[in-house]
Amino acid sequence: SPIQTLAEQLPKAELHMHLEGSLEPELMFALARRNNVTLPYQDEAELRQAYQFANLQEFLDLYYAGMSVLLTEQDFYDLTWAYLEHCKRDNVTHTEVFFDPQAHVERNIPFEVQFNGIYRALCDGQNKLGISFRLILSFLRHLSEESAFETLELALPYLERIDGVGLDSSEKGHPPEKFERIFRRCRELGLRVTAHAGEEGPPEYVWQAIDGLQIDRIDHGNRALEDADLTAMIAERGLTLTVCPLSNYRLCVVDDMKKHPLLRMLDKGLHVTVNSDDPAYFGGYVNDNFRAIIDNLPITAEQVYRLARNSFEGSWLDDDAKRNAL
Ligand code: ADE
Ligand code: ZN
Repeated sequence: SPIQTLAEQLPKAELHMHLEGSLEPELMFALARRNNVTLPYQDEAELRQAYQFANLQEFLDLYYAGMSVLLTEQDFYDLTWAYLEHCKRDNVTHTEVFFDPQAHVERNIPFEVQFNGIYRALCDGQNKLGISFRLILSFLRHLSEESAFETLELALPYLERIDGVGLDSSEKGHPPEKFERIFRRCRELGLRVTAHAGEEGPPEYVWQAIDGLQIDRIDHGNRALEDADLTAMIAERGLTLTVCPLSNYRLCVVDDMKKHPLLRMLDKGLHVTVNSDDPAYFGGYVNDNFRAIIDNLPITAEQVYRLARNSFEGSWLDDDAKRNAL
């Protein structure tokens, strides 16, 4: 359709993508062979069959298991490079990616190994594909505050090349207030801050993320809509929401794509963007997420432009780069 062509051809920024969630089954098996890791699946098709999730935790269990094949700097490079090639295809000209260092340090993969592979690929993406980037260190909220502080310590030598921090993993039972001190420290160090909030967790967690963590944007934010005062405040402050349509559908945050709240969010004046979250697990990259929306919601061309513009405006690019982007 013309509107799908418009969405595909517009330059876009992606603001919510976990590098480990871009590990496609084919690369997972290739790295397993290269590293002599045994996967509990016969082949790529059997692995894909397992990607049926009733909630966030069922996904996270497979997501952490899948990472077992990521051992060397080259593995992290290959993972990141494969994602950047998808950006190129989708005309994603700027991307702000998360990585989960604790999930690898726990497996005895040094921070330096992870960082060097990811960063070298991102620089090659900038130089060879023209894709600008920001790198976001995400803390795992099911782990302790102490573990987050230890991770920040490991990251200190790299902070010139890390733009911000995030908060991800199991939301229910792990409220943002658990991380107020580490987020304050990160802000003092000059880092940008964002957090997953209101994906499965209640509106109260979104309030805490905004007031307690002082976040620059909200990852997901779906359940903020349950609280009219919260919704109005988010609109008033112009906070960007990084919404992930296919993720929402595959994790049963919405039970039908035709009921996805994206257009309602736009109508309420929220600064919404479209993102892929974990593209290898949820059925696609940025343009696939636009297609899911366009096929299921009565979206207009103006709204598609608005989403693309929001993606740059909500990014951590400087003002000049934002102006030149669209
Ligand atoms: N880690 C990777 N993807 C995630 C998501 N959608 N929510 C929370 N943690 C995640
Ligand atoms: Zn996410």
